[in-house]
Amino acid sequence: QRVVKLAVIPGDGIGPEVVAEAEKVLDAATAGSGVRFEKTPFSLGAGRYLETGDTLTDADLEAIKAHDAILLGAVGGTPGDPRLKDANIERGLLLKLRFELDHYVNLRPSKLYPGAGSPLADPGDIDFVVVREGTEGPYVGNGGAIRRGTPHEVANETSVNTAYGVERVVRYAFDLAERRRRKLTLVHKTNVLVHAGGMWKRIVDAVALEHPDVAVDYLHVDAATIFLVTNPGRFDVIVTDNLFGDILTDLAGAVTGGIGLAASGNINPDGAFPSMFEPVHGSAPDIAGQQKADPTAAILSTALLLDHLGLHSESARVTRAVEDDIADRGASTRSTSQIGDAIAARLQA
Ligand code: NAD
Ligand code: IPM
Ligand code: MN
Repeated sequence: QRVVKLAVIPGDGIGPEVVAEAEKVLDAATAGSGVRFEKTPFSLGAGRYLETGDTLTDADLEAIKAHDAILLGAVGGTPGDPRLKDANIERGLLLKLRFELDHYVNLRPSKLYPGAGSPLADPGDIDFVVVREGTEGPYVGNGGAIRRGTPHEVANETSVNTAYGVERVVRYAFDLAERRRRKLTLVHKTNVLVHAGGMWKRIVDAVALEHPDVAVDYLHVDAATIFLVTNPGRFDVIVTDNLFGDILTDLAGAVTGGIGLAASGNINPDGAFPSMFEPVHGSAPDIAGQQKADPTAAILSTALLLDHLGLHSESARVTRAVEDDIADRGASTRSTSQIGDAIAARLQA
């Protein structure tokens, strides 16, 4: 029997609520199969910080590295909580994991499932994947401020883009497009961010020569937000930088039925480090602890996880169970665990 060592980071807010359902579905999908998940829970996030002052210790990081994959709920407290003003859970925990584990592909698929209820009047078929760069861009934290708090304060955030880092994610996006509808859209802001944007464009154009069957186009990020609303069916694979990808994928989640459905994978394609799967959404302090969160995004993240581990039929079964659940949802209001139970039950049937 194959044993997969899974690190589980439930995190804060609705994180533990949605992760419980994702684990339930993962167990149902693999029951009686040739694979067993051996799970290690990690208590990390704003809660742990408030208790111990730790965000992510070296020991935590080493322990996590010893796993085959990671399932994460969401981390981060209520924005503006004064007790967390020095914590920076997002940088010190989430981004640290993405950077240290070299998750250079942040894979964020968007698909409109029948019954999901897009807010668009005429959404058409929506089925695209955002390949968001995960280790560079403005997220690197290469910035600083001087004269803080004075009228002469200067605050800089530098966007770091390396040819190596851009080429590897662009290559991944082209390979993905080859396996899909063979259309790739680069999204950037080359008209303003001429240095970084120019390099992204040149690298995409160069790699495109190796993929003559992939149709390549380019959109400025502002225009891309228009088309995501007016004609989302035009997209197949979008490749973009870390910050643009963050923004576009919340919008993509919204047009495909809500952020409660949007799954993601932080992938280290080389397999040197464990990849990490998590919903696109955050800890949602506004609905935490009330069983109001939709666990579907976390559940679909386990489908991405299974796929990454080569467990393709298990992954397809999870996706199918979610698809069937969404199709039957209607206007019903179910609790977080009722949704998880319903999806798990479809896998046991
Ligand atoms: P958020 O995604 O947590 O919430 C935005 C809105 O979407 C809220 O109204 C929330 O109730 C709703 N929502 C989110 N997930 C939902 C779900 N599964 N079902 C139903 N509704 C859902 O974004 P935010 O409010 O900007 O951030 C809250 C905290 O989470 C912050 O500390 C932020 O830094 C953190 N965050 C963490 C991650 C992560 O861990 N990957 C991602 C985004 C935000
Ligand atoms: C996401 C989140 C994170 C990001 C934050 C919490 C650092 O918004 O996963 O989309 O910006 O990547
Ligand atoms: Mn985000």
